[in-house]
Amino acid sequence: MGVELGGMEGAGLRNVGSHCSLAEMDDFNLSRLLDKPKLNIERQRSFDERSLSELSIGLARGLDHLDLTYSPGGRSGFDTPSSSARNSFEPHPMVAEAWEALRRSLVYFRGQPVGTIAAYDHASEEVLNYDQVFVRDFVPSALAFLMNGEPDIVKNFLLKTLYLQGWEKRIDRFKLGEGAMPASFKVLHDPVRKTDTLIADFGESAIGRVAPVDSGFWWIILLRAYTKSTGDLSLAETPECQKGMRLILALCLSAGFDTFPTLLCADGCSMIDRRMGIYGYPIEIQALFFMALRCALAMLKHDAEGKEFVERIVKRLHALSYHMRSYFWLDFQQLNDIYRFKTEEYSHTAVNKFNVMPDSIPEWVFDFMPTRGGYFIGNVSPAGMDFRWFALGNFVAILSSLTTPEQSAAIMDLVESRWEELVGEMPLKICYPAIESHEWRIVTGCDPKNTRWSYHNGGSWPVLLWLLTAACIKTGRPQIARRAIDLAETRLLKDNWPEYYDGKLGRYVGKQARKLQTWSIAGYLVAKMMLEDPSHLGMISLEEDKQMKPVIKRSSSWTC
Ligand code: GLC
Repeated sequence: MGVELGGMEGAGLRNVGSHCSLAEMDDFNLSRLLDKPKLNIERQRSFDERSLSELSIGLARGLDHLDLTYSPGGRSGFDTPSSSARNSFEPHPMVAEAWEALRRSLVYFRGQPVGTIAAYDHASEEVLNYDQVFVRDFVPSALAFLMNGEPDIVKNFLLKTLYLQGWEKRIDRFKLGEGAMPASFKVLHDPVRKTDTLIADFGESAIGRVAPVDSGFWWIILLRAYTKSTGDLSLAETPECQKGMRLILALCLSAGFDTFPTLLCADGCSMIDRRMGIYGYPIEIQALFFMALRCALAMLKHDAEGKEFVERIVKRLHALSYHMRSYFWLDFQQLNDIYRFKTEEYSHTAVNKFNVMPDSIPEWVFDFMPTRGGYFIGNVSPAGMDFRWFALGNFVAILSSLTTPEQSAAIMDLVESRWEELVGEMPLKICYPAIESHEWRIVTGCDPKNTRWSYHNGGSWPVLLWLLTAACIKTGRPQIARRAIDLAETRLLKDNWPEYYDGKLGRYVGKQARKLQTWSIAGYLVAKMMLEDPSHLGMISLEEDKQMKPVIKRSSSWTC
């Protein structure tokens, strides 16, 4: 099977001249696309800009030199981490070790680096699929390389996964949607015939056979990060990338029986890839969905094929942000309102729209909720609210501006006031709290890996450090990130970069955690580099769109 993408590999880097239009795209206001009278909206100072000018860190280069249209990494072609080379203070010794470990995890296809292996843990008796390049795991690696001025590997990865998307995907006798992106892929080297072959997993070999809904979203988000970081629009503009985006979008924008704008998902279709009771409308996917839609909107061409998608995205974004900001948001006031909900309201003016029984509110949430602070809860479905906190969903919501600025600040308030629960001794809990006993049996199906405070069930994942740091920078609270990074630096290297930690405080290296887990390494590097140079934030953050201001009135969602 031919593995090269005709014509695309040749699309060279175009560093100058094209980045202005990208900045315009970022400022892309939905009002321009809607058939409404247009207000003359003044260009808003972006969060990225604000966080830059209001933060007192990493400004050694001076604001005058910052090109806000794209956030360049370091000096292309250099192997030394630019973050350590250009800063006045000494880098932490862990940084050099991390770079070395990250480079050891590189995977090559016909001599070209195309990704990073999930874990370089040869000591482990079972390799399982940790010798593969996972799409979601590669994201922090990609960001580290972009920030270090090494975009080529990211481009290679984007092209290889795009090529894999084109495969016909079958599980037994069932054909998967065309746009599905793989969860992971592997390069098979044949030393005798001297050939390299790609094999991919779209969920058919994964434990539980679940397809990764997040892969396609991460692919789009990464394509934008690459474009933003390099200023090279030529990759995103190729017919192949445009088609790849449209195929992903076709999967998640198709009309069905839905009454909600959120995306209906199977359990285990994201980073939490085992049964953990997150089927329905999990925040982890909704936040990525929102961010991917916004990134796609900035990159899709308004040609005959793209135009229709642009229109569908715009409508969906409006509905989705309204829904999420209104119904997923929980703070002290909201909790009190739900606690006093009437049930069985039948009318368009119902306050308790999903007929949630106040008795289903778990005890822990009353103590957990601070007076100041709030978060997007795990899931909202008919008569079902999952009150658990999920880190990735909340931080991606901040980065994509799915949250309002007030909600973003409230999430950071919650992290600060519930530090012990959410960060503990090792950043960061994947979700909170853990489920135990009878509930654990029912929800996880007695999964021995997901026992309480372990792995996906309230375990602590160092990779989440980069998301926390990005959210901290965006909300102007770098000190929180610094505190978390300090914690990680006391243990991560010494423990040989574990995949996750166990326990209520995250004190113990995870029961079955891999060592030399690549995204733990890359996540640390990205967090460090962003804190040192906050202009990197731009590649993974989108400023608020003023057209999406919330109207949080519980009785106004029905319109004829
Ligand atoms: C585990 C994680 C998943 C990750 C994979 C490779 O299955 O749950 O999120 O992508 O390991 O690291």
